Amino acid sequence: MGDPTTELEQLRTELRRREAEVAEQERQLQRYAADLRETFKQERERAQQLRDSYVATVRALANAVEARDAYTGRHAERVASYALMIARAHGTTMADDPQAEFGFLLHDIGKVAVPDAILFKPEPLNEAERSLMERHALVGWEILRDVDWLAEAKAVVRHHHERWDGDGYPDRLAGEEIPLAARIFAVADTLDALTTDRPYRPGRSLAVAREIIAAHAGTQFDPAVAEALGRLDDDALDAVREEHT
Ligand SMILES: [Fe+2]
Ligand SMILES: [Fe+2]
Repeated sequence: MGDPTTELEQLRTELRRREAEVAEQERQLQRYAADLRETFKQERERAQQLRDSYVATVRALANAVEARDAYTGRHAERVASYALMIARAHGTTMADDPQAEFGFLLHDIGKVAVPDAILFKPEPLNEAERSLMERHALVGWEILRDVDWLAEAKAVVRHHHERWDGDGYPDRLAGEEIPLAARIFAVADTLDALTTDRPYRPGRSLAVAREIIAAHAGTQFDPAVAEALGRLDDDALDAVREEHT
């Protein structure tokens, strides 16, 4: 048996060594944590930059379509604002997804393929002209087809002229077969079309536009979406028009 004093001394030394080791491991862990925090922060910043450049690209595309049409002006931006407001009133979380807004902004991108003579014809379109005009929904979807990150947005582009009763185009979807974002968009688009001046008629008042949309709930429009518009007050809708004219 060894000297108890020496043994105690050895145990103390061993204990100190272990404590030092633990302290070193602790410091190591803290360094890892700090590195991770820094990496996350950089990653978040990069993701934000990426999102910003997506938004800028989408806006540039939307503006390219609008630049042709002096009458509709900033239609895409107004419609996107209306649609987001209606989405919130409807209670869907869709409004928080930037994808939906991209789809709203790009809805008429397919009009790049519609000749000016048809796009700006003040008289009613004949059968052949109308079918050319109606192709813009499918053409728009085809333009964006391979852009994977626009998945949800593409549904709005393709289906923004479907009708609740199945009488729309291009796929004659009905009711809830139509993606919700497209059902919401249809109401917003009509609201803006009605309240905007056209070469052949002045814009209607908000009150008249509301009546027209309510009268087409259940045929052209999803009744729940039309109701959501009914819950928005005039001031909020007027503010959109004032901001984007
Ligand atoms: Fe359209
Ligand atoms: Fe539109």
